[in-house]
Amino acid sequence: MSKPKVYVTREIPERGLKTIRERFDTEVWHECAPPPKEVIIKNVRDVDALASLLSDKIDAEVFDAATELKIVAQFAVGVDNIDVKEATRRGIYVTNTPGVLTETTADFAWALLMAVARRVVEADKRVRTGQWKVGWHPSMLLGRDVCGATIGIVGAGRIGSAVARRAKGFNMKILYHSPSAKPKLERKLGAKRVDLDALLKASDFISIHVPLTKQTYHMINEEKLRLMKKTAYLINNSRGAIVDEKALYQALKEGWIAGAGLDVFEREPTPVDNLLLKLDNVVVAPHISSSSHETRSRMAEMVAENLVAFFEGRVPPNLVNREVLES
Ligand code: GLV
Repeated sequence: MSKPKVYVTREIPERGLKTIRERFDTEVWHECAPPPKEVIIKNVRDVDALASLLSDKIDAEVFDAATELKIVAQFAVGVDNIDVKEATRRGIYVTNTPGVLTETTADFAWALLMAVARRVVEADKRVRTGQWKVGWHPSMLLGRDVCGATIGIVGAGRIGSAVARRAKGFNMKILYHSPSAKPKLERKLGAKRVDLDALLKASDFISIHVPLTKQTYHMINEEKLRLMKKTAYLINNSRGAIVDEKALYQALKEGWIAGAGLDVFEREPTPVDNLLLKLDNVVVAPHISSSSHETRSRMAEMVAENLVAFFEGRVPPNLVNREVLES
C-alpha cells in the first residue's frame, strides 16, 4: 500500500521530521520564508495531509485545491491562520501543539516584562554605544519595581496561568480576566478574577494570553489603553492583532502608559518603519516566545504524533476541531 502524502511547509526540527519522512511520502518546503499561497495551493493538490506553520494562511482556497486533504497538523498552539470552521465543514481534522510550549512561552512573557520594566535593552545599547559616560548616577535609567507590583493576566488558560505562577515568586498581587473562574489560581496564588476594565485600571503590568478570534481582535484598543495607569506596562506574546497597534503607539508616545513588551505584531515580520520601533519604551522580539531547543523539537514531535495517530485510525492527541468526529 502506498504511503499517505504529506506536505510540510517548512523544515521543522528533525525529531519530528524524521518520523514524518519515515512514515509518509513527504515533501518539504526548504526555504526560510513561507511558501507563497500559490505554491501551497500547487503543492497540496494530491496530498493527504498538510503540516503547517502559523504564518501559512490555510483557508477555503487551499481546501478547494486540496481535494484529498484529510488533516492539517499545525506546528503551533494558535490556529488563527487556519479556517477551522471551514475545515470542520469539509471533514478535515485540525491539530495543534498545546501544552509543551506553555512554560517556554510564559518564560518569554517574563523576559519581556523584566526587560521593559528595568530598561534592559536601553541599558545594553547605552553601554555598547559609548554612551555610558558617568560611572554611576542616582537617576541613571530608572525603571519600575516588578516585585510587589500588581500583574493583570488577560486570559488565564495554560500560558496565562504559567505567567501567574511566576508572578507569585515576585510577590505580586495577581488579577486575572477570564471567561471562567480558575479556582486553582485563586486558591494557590491568591489570584482575583475581575472584569477587563477593572484589571486594566488596577494593574502595573498587563500580560495578554488569549487566542486571536473575532471577539479578541483589537480587544486592547484606544478606550482600553486609556484605562491603564500612566506607570503601567503592556506585554503581548499571544497574537499581534489583539492590540490595536496604532492606538498603542499613541499611548506610548503620549505617555498614557509607561511601556510595552511585544513579541507579536499585527503584520509579521513587522515593517522596519513601524513607528513602535522608534520608541525606547518598547522592547520587541520577532515572535520567538516558544523558541527554545527543547520546545521546538517537542512541537515537531507532536506534529508527527498527530499525523501518525490519524493515519493509524486513532483520534489525534491534539485535535482542535472535535466536532469533526461527528461528521
Ligand atoms: C506561537 O505563537 C504558537 O501559537 O504556538
